[in-house]
Amino acid sequence: MSARHFLSLMDCTPDELVALIRRGMELKDLRNRGVLFEPLKNRVLGMIFEKASTRTRLSFEAGMIQLGGQAIFLSPRDTQLGRGEPIGDAAIVMSRMLDAVMIRTFAHSTLTEFAANSRVPVINGLSDDLHPCQLLADMQTFQELRGSIKGKTVAWIGDGNNMCNSYIEAAMQFDFQLRVACPEGYEPNAKFLALAGDRVQVMRSPQAAVAGAHLVSTDVWTSMGQEAEAAERLKLFQPYQVNAALLDLAAQDVVFLHCLPAHRGEEISEELLDDPRSAAWDQAENRLHAQKALLEFLVEPAYHHA
Ligand code: CP
Ligand code: NVA
Repeated sequence: MSARHFLSLMDCTPDELVALIRRGMELKDLRNRGVLFEPLKNRVLGMIFEKASTRTRLSFEAGMIQLGGQAIFLSPRDTQLGRGEPIGDAAIVMSRMLDAVMIRTFAHSTLTEFAANSRVPVINGLSDDLHPCQLLADMQTFQELRGSIKGKTVAWIGDGNNMCNSYIEAAMQFDFQLRVACPEGYEPNAKFLALAGDRVQVMRSPQAAVAGAHLVSTDVWTSMGQEAEAAERLKLFQPYQVNAALLDLAAQDVVFLHCLPAHRGEEISEELLDDPRSAAWDQAENRLHAQKALLEFLVEPAYHHA
């Protein structure tokens, strides 16, 4: 199938990613100035959510409406996907009716299998492996506040999860150094680490990872689907809380990001989202703008009149 997909940051070139971030900033400005921009009139995005979501659902749905199109929310509970219709069959049928499909799922192979059978672009709205749309928003937020991230040092603290894997891909694509501090046994996926080579260093000490860093980020200790491990993780990850004292070790102009939802008192201290170094609310808003840029890039413009 010839459609262009966005399952990972590696599906775009570094130049395309930089252009997407810039475009996200332009689309944000258009919206702030109240300018109507509807290149996706009559276009329809299907959104399959196998896991919960607030930001991803809202930003894609609002984004499609703002671009002149529509979005349809689909869950396995109410579709034949929940009753065992093969993913490939669902992809063939859905992609004959829709102009793009966003999927939030467990196994990353669900996305690759859907994409292999889809005529239209497929977007990864989070899998157990990756969360590339969140990285578009994170990179836009840093760019807005501090300019290019090229050559900077980024610290990822906590679980080597889907967000961490996407930070590894971002380190390669946006050209920055990444330090990951995690407990033993919770390292990011070896496949991503091997690709990144010496661009990424894994260590145990959050203090060493944060020292002099320009961007610090973390995420929940228990991701969706890992609920049975929550108690054990809560104990193990205690030394990995990001708080004001830890950020004091970073560069003076450090930016703190959290993809949200956050668990105050666990991976971040109670007050951290209110710390002047945190840009988590801008980051959340930027999901909207960055994904509008992605939709504009992937989805064909409006039909001709008959
Ligand atoms: N950050 C993020 O993807 O949030 P949601 O789970 O609310 O979509
Ligand atoms: N790592 C988290 C991210 C949520 C946006 C999860 O997968 O649940």
